[in-house]
Amino acid sequence: MTRLFRNVVLLIVLSVVGLTPSLALAEGALAPTEAGNEMTAKLIENAADNDHRMAYQADSVAGVVVLVAALLAAAWLNHASPSRRVVGTFLTAAMTLGIGLMIGWLHLLGALDHVRPPFLPTDDFKPNLMRLMGVAFTLGGLFLLLVTYWQTKRSDVLALQSANERERYGRTTRVIHWTTAVLFVALIPMGIFTSMIPEDVWYRQGYYVVHKSLGLTVLVLVAYRLIWHWISPTPVLDSGHKPWERRSAHSAHVLLYVLMIGFPITGFVMSTFGGKYSHFFFWDTPLFWAPDADLIVPWALLHKLALPVLFYVVFAAHVAGALKHQFVDKHDDAFKRMVT
Ligand code: HEM
Ligand code: HEM
Repeated sequence: MTRLFRNVVLLIVLSVVGLTPSLALAEGALAPTEAGNEMTAKLIENAADNDHRMAYQADSVAGVVVLVAALLAAAWLNHASPSRRVVGTFLTAAMTLGIGLMIGWLHLLGALDHVRPPFLPTDDFKPNLMRLMGVAFTLGGLFLLLVTYWQTKRSDVLALQSANERERYGRTTRVIHWTTAVLFVALIPMGIFTSMIPEDVWYRQGYYVVHKSLGLTVLVLVAYRLIWHWISPTPVLDSGHKPWERRSAHSAHVLLYVLMIGFPITGFVMSTFGGKYSHFFFWDTPLFWAPDADLIVPWALLHKLALPVLFYVVFAAHVAGALKHQFVDKHDDAFKRMVT
């Protein structure tokens, strides 16, 4: 754990030191568009306008429903009873498929083409990126439905303790891992769609409330996870892996921690520089400092560009590694360290 903590701190320092010159270099090519600058100016002008809640706090309620569904799925995926594990996998499949179908529905409604003017030049790719994600989520959901069917054939009872063991993760880490995974993966298309909705659309602010609440939940979960891993050390890396695989798995885990901490912090700082509250379900966080149009841009570049790109690469490697051990190396125990 001490090594993990040291690596996380080191990586955060290196990312900040490394990103500053890259952002300066990128400033020419990635400077906000004219519409983007206008948008920032308007944001600062209306900084005091934080009138944002939907009637009956429907946005916060929606956020709570998603969180409860993610928690239930994570707890049941690792339940002792095989039939409850089937329900856990089904719930995960339904949520994944639901996101895919929702993106498909937005495409059919034309909502992916009726978007606000681009803030960064790269924003032009968003409609097609969303369509690609729609296909990926739909295929992922169908695959998980197949896994649900396979699971119905199993009858083994999972004897798992709360603490981590030497060779596998315990219940606490598993529930946090899968809750975070579901939330994180959902927050990506949700964030992209939020940033595409035109200013005058009625549900725009509600989307922000859900996105920010679930994003801050990830930060709470990662803090709890780090404290928990200090109390209950993580298992040693799988001895069945080759040395390069162990090194890559370890680096991917450290980078995933950087992302789990980096995304919520940059989102919070960017919003505060825009004079906008952040939300944690039914509560609004205070505005800790004055709005500043110039400082929105570097934090927006981090939250909207650098971290998502890093996530696509690291996440692909993380999932591909897990699937390789399961289906190519036929190393069944590797996957079972985190889920059964
Ligand atoms: C949805 C697809 C995902 C799959 C299939 C998956 C699978 C796994 C597996 C099998 C392990 C155990 C590796 C081992 O030690 O042998 C693991 C660990 C880990 N995963 Fe994932 N994961 C997924 C999503 C995520 C996401 C979205 C994040 C974070 C943003 C994440 C963060 C981590 C971390 C940090 C560890 C190391 C354990 C720890 O320190 O808590 N995973 N994952
Ligand atoms: C794990 C947590 C989070 C993830 C994975 C995440 C991810 C994303 C992504 C991918 C986007 C789309 C960026 C774009 O393409 O322009 C986005 C937008 C946004 N996020 Fe987050 N986010 C997280 C947490 C937060 C938090 C905690 C806040 C604020 C408290 C926040 C505030 C925002 C805002 C305001 C936007 C829209 C910016 C715009 O209108 O252009 N995010 N987020």
